[in-house]
Amino acid sequence: MKTESKKNQKKTEKEIESLLKKMTLDEKISMIHGASLFRSGGVERLGIPGIETSDGPMGVREEFMSDRWVPAGNNDDRVSYLPSNSALASTWNPYRAYEMGKVLGAEARGRGKDVILAPGINIKRSPLCGRNFEYMSEDPKLTATLAVPFIKGIQDNDVAACVKHFTANVQETDRLMVDEEIDERTLQELYFPAFKAAVQEANAYSVMGAYNKVNGYHCCENKKLLDDVLRGEWGFDGAVISDWGGVHLTREAAECSLDLEMSVFPDFDEYMLANPLKELIKKGEVSEEVVNAKVRNLLRMMFRLKMIGREKASRRSGSYNTPDHRQMILRTAEESMILLKNEKQALPLNAFRIKKLVVVGQNAAWIHSDGGGSAEIKALYEICPLMGLKCYLGGGTQVKYVKGYHVPEKRKTFDHNWQADSLDGLERSTAGILTRDDGAPKSHRAEEDERLAQLAKEAAEVHEKNKALFAEAIEAVKDADAVIYVGGLNHYIDSEGADRTDMKLPYEQDELIEALLKVRKDMIVTFIGGSPVEMPWRDKAQAILWSYYAGMETGTAFARIIFGDIDPSGKLAETFPNVYGDCVTAKNGQFGVQGSIRLEEGLYCGYRYFDRQRIAPAFCFGHGLSYTRFTYSGLTFKTEKGGDIKLTFTVKNVGKMVGAEIAQVYVAPIGAKIDRPDKELKSYAKVELAPGKSRKVAITLKREDFAYYDENSHDFVTDAGDYEILVGASCEDIRLKGIAALA
Ligand code: BGC
Repeated sequence: MKTESKKNQKKTEKEIESLLKKMTLDEKISMIHGASLFRSGGVERLGIPGIETSDGPMGVREEFMSDRWVPAGNNDDRVSYLPSNSALASTWNPYRAYEMGKVLGAEARGRGKDVILAPGINIKRSPLCGRNFEYMSEDPKLTATLAVPFIKGIQDNDVAACVKHFTANVQETDRLMVDEEIDERTLQELYFPAFKAAVQEANAYSVMGAYNKVNGYHCCENKKLLDDVLRGEWGFDGAVISDWGGVHLTREAAECSLDLEMSVFPDFDEYMLANPLKELIKKGEVSEEVVNAKVRNLLRMMFRLKMIGREKASRRSGSYNTPDHRQMILRTAEESMILLKNEKQALPLNAFRIKKLVVVGQNAAWIHSDGGGSAEIKALYEICPLMGLKCYLGGGTQVKYVKGYHVPEKRKTFDHNWQADSLDGLERSTAGILTRDDGAPKSHRAEEDERLAQLAKEAAEVHEKNKALFAEAIEAVKDADAVIYVGGLNHYIDSEGADRTDMKLPYEQDELIEALLKVRKDMIVTFIGGSPVEMPWRDKAQAILWSYYAGMETGTAFARIIFGDIDPSGKLAETFPNVYGDCVTAKNGQFGVQGSIRLEEGLYCGYRYFDRQRIAPAFCFGHGLSYTRFTYSGLTFKTEKGGDIKLTFTVKNVGKMVGAEIAQVYVAPIGAKIDRPDKELKSYAKVELAPGKSRKVAITLKREDFAYYDENSHDFVTDAGDYEILVGASCEDIRLKGIAALA
């Protein structure tokens, strides 16, 4: 991505001022709020178009009617379905992140969009958060290093990334109202870094304000977050766009650095930054200057996107559904799948030895792309695992599929769309304030009770139907040459608007897996899902393969890994706990409740918590096996000019297959002045090696990689002293250690 020259910037600012001078108050106001569900108002007279936005992170969403959450019913809005951010993060490959950004940006531009509402980079605080599948990791460094190239890839297409949701959008429960109390250090060390990198390193053109409150104020009206941090500390000069319905108060939103209000209602003139703001300006209660500032930021983004101005003719036009997009999506899917366990070399399977393959589990044949909330996609196609296996094996092998368990059907009804419903219980008061119609706690509890009653009803239905399905599956696997179980979650569970109630596999899958493993010890257990699940039977299974929602080529990648054409190289970007009770949010109870939550664990989320408490997770952060084996050797340090530390070490492929290893570098302060996590990920390298080959890896740790946030000086501080450097294949599998002395 090119950065603008100073001269160019000056020219742009001049043009912005000249446009601004020509605009009436009405015209300016029309630009700062939605004029349709996904487009802002433009000023035709001056050649300023509206800004076309679209979800989302897994591909460009289908077209909706401009004023209703009803699909337009087009046949030209099918698109490439990209791996979810959780899948992308499991590749630990910034190059793949750049490629995926490039595909997403090209498809968005190809569909005529200006802003793509992606990537989602919230830190995964609890495994139960309904939108975790859309996010990358529990670790800020890993998130930042993948978000930056992803954003660059998008914006190289003259499309803006809208990095979301700023900030700490850590739960879906009561998402519009929940107030999160977070201390400054935790914000700075955990929740801010990826957003800061998005702004400063990727030069993101836009940022989406989150629904939730942070420390008492809604994120879209939060001066501390938007004015002091985003614009003040980080120097952001792009556009801040509200989440859809995230603005509640006219004056507060007007007087802070939010630039564009979007919502889910069709009464566009009644948006907070429409007529209500105009009234306040007319009465002299709010200065027109606040509108000017917003228009400037929006115009600046539009110049950068070449929507207007002298470079308009050279704007890229994008493309969608191209064969090379599908190739890149396949590569990412292949790199994203994680081999959690593989005893007795149960995997890969030898396709030549299989005459009859039995596949059990609804996720073998499930289509995931059309669910999840705003991340839903009208995919050009989606190859499910069953199709992937059949395409791979051809007609000479018998592939028998049995459902195994029952999934209660949930139909989408567009007369009653979830997205508009997601703001149900909120209505506009005469003061222009969004409030709950029947009082916040009551309305939410009623909704929650209804949901729980529905879940109980579904559980009864599942139990009833499973009897026959279990029996069928147990019978079917008996005479197979190989058995593959494909279960996990789906977007009824990994979904926007609700958190999971527990971390268990749904639809009685644990019972089914136990029963099947009794008959077939060699059953390969595989999952598709967006967030960790408990696996109480895991000691009994020989092989466990995990895939997040990996895009349109999921099934192709799946088959290639199962049969060993590809070595699995994905690693967990989040901890897979043994049981939910081991998680910090289960212990402190500050999750999934309404009203307000205190992030009292501070920095101790994810592996930082498991490390400190010495709790062994089922599969730790950074874990992922391979069909080949890697050794690590020869760790060296050198202090560079300026105090950076350059380390080198050698990774060798000592197995029999080409494979890639993700070598991770953690820093553990020794005798730190203040309480600090035991160790933190600071860098990593993905190394692809042929059998017998080795490579020397060189990694530079900057002084700031050793820093912590000092709440007294309100700044990051790096103390001189000794730091242990840990190099390993996961956060627990440390292969090399050394002590670096920082002057
Ligand atoms: C979601 C956003 C999304 C927006 C527009 C909201 O409900 O939180 O992530 O981009 O809707 O669909």
